[in-house]
Amino acid sequence: MYCLIATEKPSQLNEPNPANMIINNLLKLPQFHGWHFEVCNDGNELLRSQSNPDVIVVSRFLTGENIEVLIKNLPLKYPSSRIVLLAGVLNETTKAFIKMCVGYGLTNIVTGKLPGDRPYTLPVALTEDKEPVKTIDPSWFDSPIDSPGEEPDQEESSKEEEPQLDNTLSEIVLDIIKQPSKASGQPKAKRVIKLKARTVIANQHEIPVVEQHRQQQPYYGYNNTRRKGVFCVTSANKGGVGKTTTAVTSAIALADAGVKVCLCDFDLGAPDISAFFDLNKGRGIEYLAGKPIRQNYIEEIIVNVRKNLDILPGPMNQTMPVFEPGQLSELVNMLLTMYPVVIGDTSPEFWTKPWYDEIFERADRVFSVVDQSKFSEHETKTYAPKLTLMGVSPEKIRIILNKFSPKLHNASVVEKCFCAGFKKGVPAKMKPKISVTIPEDWNNHVVAGYKGQVVGLDNVYSQWHNLAKEIAELAGYGYNHAPENKKENPLKSLLGRFKK
Ligand SMILES: Nc1ncnc2c1ncn2[C@@H]1O[C@H](COP(=O)(O)OP(=O)(O)OP(=O)(O)O)[C@@H](O)[C@H]1O
Ligand SMILES: [Mg+2]
Repeated sequence: MYCLIATEKPSQLNEPNPANMIINNLLKLPQFHGWHFEVCNDGNELLRSQSNPDVIVVSRFLTGENIEVLIKNLPLKYPSSRIVLLAGVLNETTKAFIKMCVGYGLTNIVTGKLPGDRPYTLPVALTEDKEPVKTIDPSWFDSPIDSPGEEPDQEESSKEEEPQLDNTLSEIVLDIIKQPSKASGQPKAKRVIKLKARTVIANQHEIPVVEQHRQQQPYYGYNNTRRKGVFCVTSANKGGVGKTTTAVTSAIALADAGVKVCLCDFDLGAPDISAFFDLNKGRGIEYLAGKPIRQNYIEEIIVNVRKNLDILPGPMNQTMPVFEPGQLSELVNMLLTMYPVVIGDTSPEFWTKPWYDEIFERADRVFSVVDQSKFSEHETKTYAPKLTLMGVSPEKIRIILNKFSPKLHNASVVEKCFCAGFKKGVPAKMKPKISVTIPEDWNNHVVAGYKGQVVGLDNVYSQWHNLAKEIAELAGYGYNHAPENKKENPLKSLLGRFKK
């Protein structure tokens, strides 16, 4: 177990660090032998850290950030960690603090002088919730799921008879038993799919076949030599979880940080991006259907909506354009020669739409948006394998946990469900993790949506900045959302391009 202890700095230089004193005392107890402890003495640092501890202990007296800002952001920053708060001796101020913490969904609170008032002392709090909230019904899962946060143990993994995974980019041939196509009524057919991926190995779930169209497509040889940019797409198993919100917010964050972005609406059936930016005139992506993909055609439909942000709108004529096989991948290729970052928004149930093969296969990152709802989690189990079928390897997937409420269950449950579709042999390190947690904030989203604005970017601790930073760095840029530092980091830029 990895435990981070965040307490105030010692008041005098020659005094011991309170966090070290806590660790020394904990290490005297046998149950904590083998735990790895780290120390943090600054609230701001805690909210910016890239670490992923199993347990975090935070003192009410931690300095470096306003305590309410700290408490509010902790569950978003560490949605999968057990958060334990040290509230101090019980008095009126402590009670007000506890009330605030509970309001933000944090209930593992130790009161009194350490080790704390019985029975919920610090050693207990490190492994047990004070008020366990059992919102997850085990019957949702048809196969047993390990308890949240635990990785499959080594022994178990090695017993698997699945193909050994390696880290090479060699082609793996997967035999996937397909269900009959509904349209054709054909019998079950075994089909071999070649996927260029490291671990594109779905669990034995039967995965609905898209349809015959996909099988008939020839193989397109992409000319990738001129490619410069990074291609990211959003995805979700169902509608309304926040795909467009993710695409738009990350695009704006990057544009404001000085990185040029093209935001494309690939939701061909129900495009949203033009509505968000109030674009109601002109041509959209349908203009390109059936044409050779040329830069001048693309430039005819692209709309600049703010500095560094161009939009390639979805269909503007209320019809569903038909793209010839290979056209969309050509389009993405061309865009990647024009922009350092291209972000594509998609529609729900992407696996049922044959044109998405070309889009997902080309993605450098897939932002998989999920929420905490029971159904979402249940569906999530079979959803990751569908991504792998589209040619997305697990390490390219980032889970965006949207509409999160810390008052519901721990986010590690969501992660676990998401990863349940991968075979056990897939190394834990490669399995997707929640990289962004966005709180449920209905009022602000409704108001901002009407104004064509996004929510959260004015908050320095907003997790949207983490996502934008990752994309910027992938594209060879530095990311700093402070207005005075919106310049490209020339060294990173050079190195990033060199890497590509
Ligand atoms: N964190 C949030 N808190 C509250 N409301 C949110 C949040 N994120 C998004 N919303 C709202 O949820 C609604 C759906 O979001 P969005 O359009 O991004 O979802 P989507 O997955 O793209 O949907 P669709 O499948 O219809 O394209 C919008 O009204 C949006 O403002
Ligand atoms: Mg949408």
